[in-house]
Amino acid sequence: MGDFVDLHIHAMFGFDDGAAALEETREIIRLAAQAGFGTVVATPHVMVGVYEHDRAKLNDAIAALGPELASLETPVRVLPGAEYYLDEHFAGRLERGELYPLGAGKHVLVELPMLRIPPLARDFAFKLRIKGMIPILAHPERYGDVTRSPERAVELREAGYLIQLNLGSLVGMYGRGPRKAAEWLLKKNQVDFVGSDAHTPKQAEQTYGEGLAALRHVVGDEGLRRLLVDNASAAVAGPVKNG
Ligand SMILES: [Fe+2]
Repeated sequence: MGDFVDLHIHAMFGFDDGAAALEETREIIRLAAQAGFGTVVATPHVMVGVYEHDRAKLNDAIAALGPELASLETPVRVLPGAEYYLDEHFAGRLERGELYPLGAGKHVLVELPMLRIPPLARDFAFKLRIKGMIPILAHPERYGDVTRSPERAVELREAGYLIQLNLGSLVGMYGRGPRKAAEWLLKKNQVDFVGSDAHTPKQAEQTYGEGLAALRHVVGDEGLRRLLVDNASAAVAGPVKNG
């Protein structure tokens, strides 16, 4: 079993705009396993009026995958997670105890609106931390404000978020701006995790292939280990120190 952990992936069919059917779920996970991932955390989108989160349903769907996973050449485990869209409903979820972590840890994956970082983003990080949870900011390099000024991601990290880059950003999957911002953040040592954010087998193939190679090129084998093994495996089991 590989020891990489992908803590951001839309591999489960029937939950969001990720994998469209069981065959795609299986193929995405097979590609992950082949690339050295021993653990993937299924993080379906959670967005009011679009996708609601049902952890029991997700656990059942993961359990039902057992035979598919057992038939893969390389073993891999799938853990439950979620990717929360940060909007005005987010605070309510927090108050009601409806924010579910990645795996068995305390880390919560959060995405922001693409066009503008909401002013409340900093405050939400503080509120989560008070409750003993640790917010991970999904792919900041893709947000317009960060693409233009990567320092904005550093500010959010200082406000309490850990930072997760998308592997695809490093190979231009989202354009030149996010690629530059992603490289800048890596070089400034402001990245805590990387994930595939793969929604399809095609994206999985590109992120686990070229994306991983590009990451290795920038941070080397040691950096790769820190991001994909040490930090990520600690996060799905328990907290990671900021810095
Ligand atoms: Fe995502």
